[in-house]
Amino acid sequence: MNLLIIGASGGTGRELVKQALEYSHNVTAFVRNPEKIRLQHANLTVAKGNVLDPDSVDSAVMGQDAVLSALGHKKWFIKTTILSEGTRNIVSAMEKHGVKRFICETTLGIGDTRGRLGLYYTLFVIPVITYFYFKDKEKQEHIIAESSLDWTIVRPGQLTNGRKKDVYRHGESIGSWIFTVHVSRADVAGFMLKQLTDNSSVHRSPAIAY
Ligand SMILES: NC(=O)c1ccc[n+]([C@@H]2O[C@H](COP(=O)([O-])OP(=O)(O)OC[C@H]3O[C@@H](n4cnc5c(N)ncnc54)[C@H](OP(=O)(O)O)[C@@H]3O)[C@@H](O)[C@H]2O)c1
Repeated sequence: MNLLIIGASGGTGRELVKQALEYSHNVTAFVRNPEKIRLQHANLTVAKGNVLDPDSVDSAVMGQDAVLSALGHKKWFIKTTILSEGTRNIVSAMEKHGVKRFICETTLGIGDTRGRLGLYYTLFVIPVITYFYFKDKEKQEHIIAESSLDWTIVRPGQLTNGRKKDVYRHGESIGSWIFTVHVSRADVAGFMLKQLTDNSSVHRSPAIAY
């Protein structure tokens, strides 16, 4: 398949690129800074762009079979709309070009999983550190859910840089009210890629954690 990976220079994004190439997909890595992609592969194209620039998103989306997003940033303490605006641009380009399949990483702890990233996140991290970020993530999810796309929202627990275990729990009731649940970026990427051939997750928001 022709896959566009948004946030390809990030932790999950790099795993998505690496694993998608192992599955023999044709991969376009969408990045602000192409120098961050060190990997070279015959099936890898690097597209320079910014999700806040609709034209760059539009031309990267054209001709793809599916889009996977691991978009994120660290401007947690200020009100931002990067995730929602960027995702609106991705969704609009996909609708325009008839690219239907969208798999987007958000987070456990929002929407109907509120509270299930454990007490530390519920009482401290989300209200104190990532309040604006999580608000924008909620908007991002609404934009996806209201689209005409075949979307899957993937909501991981706290991310680690651990190895790919291929053993994890997933589904809409995953998470803990008390403890922080974890999952590696490598396993999240593997799960996201598996959704390309699993239509049962279309219009669903599975969480994933060990
Ligand atoms: N950290 C956790 O424990 C945790 C838990 C659950 C969910 N999540 C969520 O999972 C997602 C992935 O997290 P991660 O830590 O693997 O990612 P990350 O390392 O923070 O990478 C984020 C990616 O988004 C890109 N990006 C940011 N702004 C962009 C823009 N305007 N245009 C294009 N690309 C842009 C970054 O590009 P640059 O390289 O140019 O900056 C980077 O490639 C995030 O949404 C995160 O919030 C995180």
